[in-house]
Amino acid sequence: MTRQVIIDTDPGLDDAVAILFALSCGAFEVLGLTTVAGNIGLERTTANAGGLLAAAGRSDIPVISGAATAMLRDNIDAIVVHGDDGLRGLKLPTPLVPAKADAVEWLAETLAAAPIGSIEILALGPLTNIARLVIHHPSAAARIGGLIVMGGTIDEPGNAGPASEFNFASDPEAVATVLRADIKTTIVPLDVTRRVRADRDYVEALRKTPTGSIAADLLTAYLQDDKQSRPLHDPCVMLLALAPELFNIEFHRLTVDLAQDADAGTLRKRAAGSPVSVAMGVDVQGALALLASGFA
Ligand code: RIB
Ligand code: CA
Repeated sequence: MTRQVIIDTDPGLDDAVAILFALSCGAFEVLGLTTVAGNIGLERTTANAGGLLAAAGRSDIPVISGAATAMLRDNIDAIVVHGDDGLRGLKLPTPLVPAKADAVEWLAETLAAAPIGSIEILALGPLTNIARLVIHHPSAAARIGGLIVMGGTIDEPGNAGPASEFNFASDPEAVATVLRADIKTTIVPLDVTRRVRADRDYVEALRKTPTGSIAADLLTAYLQDDKQSRPLHDPCVMLLALAPELFNIEFHRLTVDLAQDADAGTLRKRAAGSPVSVAMGVDVQGALALLASGFA
């Protein structure tokens, strides 16, 4: 029984590996890619999403562009990691099908037309699209079967601010909106994603299949700057969806800092916080083996 998923994404090299895994592992029916500004601007994340689907030969899956800006603050970006094209210069084919507009309307229509709870959302970037769905289409948002989000950090140092992670720092208001909504949500923070790392031997071992070779090209681009290994942040979302037994899930009540400074997006454990499941542990070798098997 394949699971119907929508991937909300800001590709981005680790997003691209996560999407390719979801397309090739056989466990998911990907209904669409909704794009958001994050690692780079919306035009590039949308073009990269289309290019990835073209590389995978999936003209049947739509790309729907979403938010170009965060809800209430200026955008930040991760060009230093992903390059100004979002793929560190890696060339993907031209998208087979032009992207559609208005991800939030498409999300609302798709959720309303499907049996309640039948669609899961895998969120790999800032949560702006999901927050806008909650605000403008609460009844559709309530039909989401489950939301798994790469974002935040609990005990690990941040990668945007001292204690804030990039996706959550990009749009803290969106995080607060989504966590307050009554959606079954699991977040996968840096505490887990920094432990699931690809090194050069792992990357080269993927080159056994055409899809594995594309993943290896993406990860090689991600490994530039003489990095010995890179964290597989977004692929951890797909791995948790597919094999939750590989992860240790804790229950926490969390608030998100809405400051206009380096603390923006910081998560804090508070009794009055929003209830959310948080992946805090992972079987690293099991996760890496499962990821590799998805490209086989
Ligand atoms: O902090 C890591 C997250 O920020 C990942 O989703 C990566 O793609 C960037 O968007
Ligand atoms: Ca991402």
